[in-house]
Amino acid sequence: MRQPLVAGNWKMNGSRDSINDLLDGILAGIDSVEKAEVAVCAPYVYLSQVADKLSGSAVAWGSQNVNDNESGAFTGEIAASMLKDFGCKYVIVGHSERRTIYGETDADVTRRFMATQAGGFIPILCVGELLEEREAGTTNEVVARQLDAVINEAGIAAIGNCVIAYEPVWAIGTGKVATPEQAQEVHAMIRSKLAGLDADVAAKVQILYGGSMKPDNAKELIGMEDIDGGLIGGASLKAEDFLGICTAAN
Ligand code: PGA
Repeated sequence: MRQPLVAGNWKMNGSRDSINDLLDGILAGIDSVEKAEVAVCAPYVYLSQVADKLSGSAVAWGSQNVNDNESGAFTGEIAASMLKDFGCKYVIVGHSERRTIYGETDADVTRRFMATQAGGFIPILCVGELLEEREAGTTNEVVARQLDAVINEAGIAAIGNCVIAYEPVWAIGTGKVATPEQAQEVHAMIRSKLAGLDADVAAKVQILYGGSMKPDNAKELIGMEDIDGGLIGGASLKAEDFLGICTAAN
């Protein structure tokens, strides 16, 4: 049985005060979460605060990216060894905002994925198609290409130690959620593709859905056979909404 995972992706939101309040709210309600593992992925500058607040709690934390170099002249970037100082468990890699706004290629994402694992963290590898790709009927092709880039370099065994997040780009932050059937179809494609390479990895890997998941649609989505939780943007910024999604996995 795969344990559901609900991970918040705060993106570039929050302040010292608002994060303090948000974490207080999450911790106050965490006992109502029976099944899911809960994690939050914070902006780098707040990782220290998040680590202080969450250590010893049931909530894990992580970052939203990492650089693939060990150290050196990479202004504005953060190395995996730095994340180690803050007790991160997860690192989001290949988020569509990184791919589309900052031009991260499949090869860049693969290097960051490998740096994440080399650093001892679990990558949350995001894949997903643009609206025009869905309309052109190329969703499966795009998602398979994004996965193959990583599998070809890191190997299928590496997928056994990661989380995959299927995030249709047209559903992110738009309020346009994929239907449970639409999401399940892609999740099943991902799992069967992996099963063709390694049945154990396919059976074990958690595949999250991301894209306008909210308390009122989470239960149906997470109830689908191959949907093992969610990567939550907007709704992870309010404790009540975030907990509503976490408890939907009960
Ligand atoms: P959203 O974002 O929940 O605000 O759509 C999801 C994500 O980008 O991970």
